[in-house]
Amino acid sequence: MMKIAPSLLSCDFTELKEEVRRLEEAGVDYLHFDVMDGRFVPNISFGLPILAQLREITELTIDSHLMIEEPERYIEAFAEAGSDIITVHIEATCHIHRAIQQIKQTGKKAGVTLNPGTSVEQLLPVLQEVDLVLVMTVNPGFGGQSFIGSMADKIQFLADYRMQHRLDFEIEVDGGVNEQTAAVCRQAGADVLVAGSYFFGHEDYQTPTSILRGE
Ligand code: DX5
Ligand code: ZN
Repeated sequence: MMKIAPSLLSCDFTELKEEVRRLEEAGVDYLHFDVMDGRFVPNISFGLPILAQLREITELTIDSHLMIEEPERYIEAFAEAGSDIITVHIEATCHIHRAIQQIKQTGKKAGVTLNPGTSVEQLLPVLQEVDLVLVMTVNPGFGGQSFIGSMADKIQFLADYRMQHRLDFEIEVDGGVNEQTAAVCRQAGADVLVAGSYFFGHEDYQTPTSILRGE
């Protein structure tokens, strides 16, 4: 079954505890935690103190998406603060392989991601090493942007490659996911859908969870 990972960037932070309770009730799979440093992306979001408090109130898998330069400087801290999955951008470090090893040494799941302008072949040297590949379908930095349709080819490529090489990383998609674009992602072979503005635009969270799953 398709996993759903609401992006907390779009939740109501004045009611974080209640939001998490409602997400748990809706049966979502991951909490997607978007960390922005104001350098790798032109925006700043939230970081370690909020993650640590989130960890105290939920058992859900916390999926940290690090949109930060030289993420290796913070991998240990994000592991300690409670991430279950740590995903780093291939563009943010000259040592992506080392960064992935570092994540694995913490005992957490390692993810790699790429901007829309980066070709998927650049991931080939590390696909054997990762637990998750995140395909960005918008330029990272902001919620509420439109899905870039041509990125579906990357999803398809990864799904084919995974089958041919008998690998087992999850394929997650992030950016502009809604009812229509989720269908494109499912068709192309995605396993996990991140959704921010579409998801939190609903009054009840069961509805977007089942719609995105294609139920
Ligand atoms: C974009 C973030 C996304 C974002 C998704 O930089 O990585 O996770 O919050 O938001 P929507 O679903 O609104 O595109
Ligand atoms: Zn994200």
